[in-house]
Amino acid sequence: MKTLLFITCNLKPKGQSRSLTVADEFLKKYAEFNPDDRIEFIDTYRDPIQRFDEDVLSGMEKLNCGMAFASLTQNEQIKLGKIWASADKFAEADRYVFVTPMWNLSFPAELKMYLDTICVVGKTFIYTGKGPVGLLGGKGKKCLSIHASGGFHYGTPFDFSVPYLKTLMKFIGVDDFSSIVIEGVDAQPERAEEFVAHAVERARVEAAVF
Ligand SMILES: Cc1cc2nc3c(=O)[nH]c(=O)nc-3n(C[C@H](O)[C@H](O)[C@H](O)COP(=O)(O)O)c2cc1C
Repeated sequence: MKTLLFITCNLKPKGQSRSLTVADEFLKKYAEFNPDDRIEFIDTYRDPIQRFDEDVLSGMEKLNCGMAFASLTQNEQIKLGKIWASADKFAEADRYVFVTPMWNLSFPAELKMYLDTICVVGKTFIYTGKGPVGLLGGKGKKCLSIHASGGFHYGTPFDFSVPYLKTLMKFIGVDDFSSIVIEGVDAQPERAEEFVAHAVERARVEAAVF
């Protein structure tokens, strides 16, 4: 049995969000093909994501200086504990689906807040003499990005969304990365339905092999 983390970052309801519409179809098909898998949902807007604040940074600094965890303040312990739990949950999963809109050439800030919690030294990557090494490699993990943008940016220097996510996944060792990008839905509204339908088809195919 595998565990799939379904990570969303969408303010719009399903009926209005192109990425959620496509992702919903993916999920239905994935559940059909993998009835025994566990699917866990992370909604980066509605779930409490621990942001990096002064307590988090000072706690990390103290640990780096060799201080014991028990000597940290209560806030430092609680907040670091939440970040570690998030990184552990990510490390333990086998499949990742990120569902995102493009906002200002990247993702909404809530997604970045979440991504910060999964990049933890010793849990998802380590530093070595030859630079950082991801710890999630060699375990058959896969990541799919389902991403919608109003214009056409994919593959241009104006895209800091899916390419960034792909690089970050590689950084922690998840090399098997695919994407379904729904582009141009606002630039060419008359073709939006067609673009979404095409992506839904791709999602069905992807779900069969993911
Ligand atoms: C605050 C905001 C910023 C946006 N920035 C961009 C952008 O930089 N490039 C783009 O192509 N579309 C941009 N859009 C349009 C959305 O990416 C587009 O509507 C997409 O369909 C949103 O995904 P969703 O339908 O899943 O919510 C932006 C939309 C909002 C609300």
